[in-house]
Amino acid sequence: MPGFERLQGTLCVDGEPLDHVAARFGTPTYVYSGALIRARYIAFSNAFGSHRHQVCYAVKANSNLSVLRLLAELGAGFDIVSGGELARVVRAGGDPARVVFSGVGKTAHEIEQALEAGIGCFNVESEMELDRIEAIARTHGVQAPVSVRVNPDVDAKTHPYISTGLKENKFGVPAGAVMGLYRRIENSDALRALGIDCHIGSQLTDITPFLEALDRLLELVDALAGEGISVDHLDLGGGLGVRYADETPPDLEAYARGITDRIGRRPLALFFEPGRWIVGDAGALLVRAEYLKENEGRGFLVVDGAMNDLLRPALYSAWHEIELVEARDETGARTLDIVGPVCESADFLGKERLLPARPGDLLAVRSAGAYGFGMSSNYNSRNRAAEVLVDDGEARMVRRRETIDDQLAAELEGLA
Ligand code: LLP
Repeated sequence: MPGFERLQGTLCVDGEPLDHVAARFGTPTYVYSGALIRARYIAFSNAFGSHRHQVCYAVKANSNLSVLRLLAELGAGFDIVSGGELARVVRAGGDPARVVFSGVGKTAHEIEQALEAGIGCFNVESEMELDRIEAIARTHGVQAPVSVRVNPDVDAKTHPYISTGLKENKFGVPAGAVMGLYRRIENSDALRALGIDCHIGSQLTDITPFLEALDRLLELVDALAGEGISVDHLDLGGGLGVRYADETPPDLEAYARGITDRIGRRPLALFFEPGRWIVGDAGALLVRAEYLKENEGRGFLVVDGAMNDLLRPALYSAWHEIELVEARDETGARTLDIVGPVCESADFLGKERLLPARPGDLLAVRSAGAYGFGMSSNYNSRNRAAEVLVDDGEARMVRRRETIDDQLAAELEGLA
């Protein structure tokens, strides 16, 4: 089975023991299963069968070049939100024609870069942005392909920080303003209406909000058709959740069936922007226990990975399974907070975990393939972790551990 499993007591990724990975590459290190990323992408795409569709992997979830290359080789499209992400996709061999560009703050420079690269579609988030895209496309003598990102005002029932489809969120255009924008697009020589788009949030564990959003978009598609305006695709965004603890994420088949049933006979291609579902379960953060300490009866296991490496617990109170890489008899287990060396009380990877852990032990923080490395920082002047991809039976470093010289280089230029 691709991914993480315990073989003779040792946690392995695609059959490669994680203690070997740590011995070769040190800790903290992110390690990814190439086989699981592939399997997830293929399963997602296959779920839509013969219905015309395009899976645009959300680069922000994990933007490592080798991860992007692996997906590009499978023919993936990409959802980007910055010029930096576009540069990564191009460098990894992704096809710009399969790129959709989302995000509320596209700069003029990023729009130019995207037009020059020949991206597939801009997911437009406001009238001002549409004006800007139109003006830039006109000076370049091209027609910009656009979709309007609709804010369907549905509750994704997820963490408020990762909920994006409510009217009070900054994302998208209110349904009432959508028709007007498409009329403008129709009347412009520099714009072409290619699709319609939404993304309502991340880590959804119920399909109902997706289907509600889809219904609102289909009402708009039908209303547009009534005015003689047709779009070729409907982009439902990303957001499909994974299991971190005891959640029951939607079944992929049910998600796909619910969507294709509602599309009915409309000649619409379906676009998706999954991130977490493709890479989340395929990654773990390997950390080494440094100290065991106790304060007023509370036990702390201090490890060498911290909130700068994996921010999700600190930022969203997110729960990640934490396991010893080498299984040990549970009799010595005690309740521990797994914390890092950063000087913040929010610097924890897990709280109140029952573990028979000792200093020197190697631990795996699971389901860290999405929004793990990508949200890491140099806080406390810590070097960012190494990244390792296990693929075709081989563990390969796909990003070397940062050094203090990497960190200092950009500032040394400013030292008089
Ligand atoms: N499309 C758009 C326009 C997005 O903004 C996002 C995620 C996605 C697709 C991919 O969503 P996914 O399939 O991964 O749920 N840092 C947070 C998640 C933030 C998601 C932001 N947008 C976390 O660690 O949970």
